[in-house]
Amino acid sequence: MQEGIVIRGLKHLEGEVKISGAKNAAVAVLPASILSRGVCKFDNIPNISDINVIYDLLIDLGAKIKLLGKSCVEIDTSCINSPHACFDMAKNIRASCYFLGALLAIFGYAKLPVPGGCNFGFRPIDQHIKGFEALGAECKITDGMIEVSCNHLVGTNIYLDVISVGATINTMIAAVKAEGVTVIENAAKEPHVVDVANFLNRIGADIMGAGTDVIKIKGVGKLHGDEYTIVPDQIEAGTYMAAAFASGGNVTIRKVIPKHLESIIAKFEEMGANVTVYDEDVNIKVYSSPKKCNIKTMPYPGFPTDMQPQVVALLSKSSGTSIINETVWGNRFRYISELFLFGANISISGSTAVIEGVSELKGAQVKATDLRAGAALIIAGLSASGVTVIKQTQYIERGYENIVEKLSALGADIRTKRNVFAKKALDIS
Ligand code: EPU
Repeated sequence: MQEGIVIRGLKHLEGEVKISGAKNAAVAVLPASILSRGVCKFDNIPNISDINVIYDLLIDLGAKIKLLGKSCVEIDTSCINSPHACFDMAKNIRASCYFLGALLAIFGYAKLPVPGGCNFGFRPIDQHIKGFEALGAECKITDGMIEVSCNHLVGTNIYLDVISVGATINTMIAAVKAEGVTVIENAAKEPHVVDVANFLNRIGADIMGAGTDVIKIKGVGKLHGDEYTIVPDQIEAGTYMAAAFASGGNVTIRKVIPKHLESIIAKFEEMGANVTVYDEDVNIKVYSSPKKCNIKTMPYPGFPTDMQPQVVALLSKSSGTSIINETVWGNRFRYISELFLFGANISISGSTAVIEGVSELKGAQVKATDLRAGAALIIAGLSASGVTVIKQTQYIERGYENIVEKLSALGADIRTKRNVFAKKALDIS
């Protein structure tokens, strides 16, 4: 039965929302736990469908997983005895690529489908391969499968040609047990890269410099299990800030690391929001439509591409003309055709979207084309008059824990509805 999200817009949001653990950290840390060959206990794991896929892949390899609570899990990877598993579902999520680095480090071999993920056009993995090959591995891609092998990885200097979160993390994971020292230059600096390095150090790795563009990894022989808490999700936090702005209101985003939100806060302030930063919380108070704002997406600490669709939705109802330049992904504007259905006035030329802010959006029936596109449609729905129905919400479930419940608790009129597209069940008069 198909599910959808139904929103009646124009309700002010008020109150507090607690942010979950970061998807893009957790989807890397869990595969990296294979290196421990022991029991790791994790807290602040987001309850999202991408994590369920990672659990399935770990179980297929032979890991034992115990759910200890809503966001707490224990994973025993000591029982993984071979790198072979049925990795069929690996093609659905990008983060499955981290199994390559982890299995290569432990078994000297891994083979899985070329990883998928949200469709932003071409998503190469040449820099992951560059990293593995520099460490001495042989990499082959045949019939949609990628195979990496090496009996003895040896540390070296690796310059990444593009700043890549995935290639930085994968190379770092593979290098943890390599002989000698590996230096990754032009490394990504995202909070989730730092989180993976912190976790690996916790279980016995020797990594320095994560969070800068040079990461140094001294190979170690043996690692061990430990406890680890995943960092809060910077993008989930930014999404709730955008939702609060779009609806007008006064919302405190709780349990975040405000430093990770600096670029997002700076841009929301430029748009006219009143933002107050506390130790672990950020409050956003705003009762007017956003002012025009120009944004260029960049690797961290720049403005995150994963917030681009949400701010385009937000700026659709604004005063003036905003220019958004997407520099990370080749094709991340597919969702804009859905925003047209709300009455947004946006033109696209290559990697640039020009938004002519309108004074009113009208509820529409739309479909999510990927995770952040889905978040953008929710934001448009919150700021639109009338009823919005969003289908293909499985994309939203990939990365947002209980988004309907969280927004509802803030006062949004939003609900999940089964079979919303059967005419009788629509009930949206
Ligand atoms: N790139 C290459 N070669 C590579 C890898 C990447 O040319 O081998 C290019 C890409 O084509 C892109 C740029 O480098 O133009 C950045 O890609 P990156 O490798 O950083 O992206 P990723 O690791 O595949 C992660 C997040 C994405 C997020 C990007 C950029 C995960 C699981 N995914 O993807 O998150 O957009 O970094 O920050 O960490 C999302 O959460 O919605 C999402 C898509």
